[in-house]
Amino acid sequence: MSQNIYDNETFFQEYKELRKNVYNYNILVEQPAIRKLLPDLSGKIVLDLGCGYGNNCIDFISKGASKVVGIDISSKMLEIAKKENIHENIKYIQMDMSKINILSQKFDLIFSSLAFHYVEDYKKLICDIRLLLKDNGTLLYSQEHPNTTAPKKGCVWTKDQFGNKLYSNLSDYMYSGKRKITWLNEKIEKYHRPMSEIINTLIKENFIIKELVEPIPDENALKKRPDFIDEFHRTTCVIIKAQLSH
Ligand SMILES: C[S@@+](CC[C@H](N)C(=O)[O-])C[C@H]1O[C@@H](n2cnc3c(N)ncnc32)[C@H](O)[C@@H]1O
Repeated sequence: MSQNIYDNETFFQEYKELRKNVYNYNILVEQPAIRKLLPDLSGKIVLDLGCGYGNNCIDFISKGASKVVGIDISSKMLEIAKKENIHENIKYIQMDMSKINILSQKFDLIFSSLAFHYVEDYKKLICDIRLLLKDNGTLLYSQEHPNTTAPKKGCVWTKDQFGNKLYSNLSDYMYSGKRKITWLNEKIEKYHRPMSEIINTLIKENFIIKELVEPIPDENALKKRPDFIDEFHRTTCVIIKAQLSH
């Protein structure tokens, strides 16, 4: 069964604090990069997997989408979405994305921001997505980069005597599977897959890779968050845009 860590009250409060900082990673690095890859959304039907607060759902509406379905496993995240990003053409559903095969509607775009690494069965997820996409539909998603998810244990960074990050440690890269890490003081379960597994799964399900982006902060982001310079050692996330071939 999928972990629902965002409904853990302590974790949720910590996460809310993190997102309150307007200079956070999502706002400065991931969102600008993934939004650049959005197709034309005029009149389109969009599914957002792991929609969280619904920020992207409301953005799709502002870009002309006619209908958006946002699903998330967490009732606490959806509570905020339903308060802050409500619209008559957005429907929020509490659902584990491992079970999207029960949805009956077809979509032009299936989108997900920083949530796929929480899903154990990536092959099933991509197969379900293929079945839910219209012909030539687009899958656009970000997830933690495999360089980031790889280590089973030990320090992620090698630092100098002053605590400055020198380089990122890479271990266990070819061991696909569960990782247990501590984030925001709680034990989190996520799933590592090497890049070959991520890409070949898409290819086997008839997707054509249109773009793969390893986003780095621009000058403006670095002025606000000089510590994001570490993203040049290894990027926190990877963004993939793929189109269903038939
Ligand atoms: C890092 S947050 C990102 C939220 C949102 N996509 C954004 O970019 O602001 C990850 C989200 O994925 C959701 N999530 C994790 N596992 C899930 C699953 N198995 N099914 C659906 N949602 C899931 C979490 O509840 C959380 O809201």
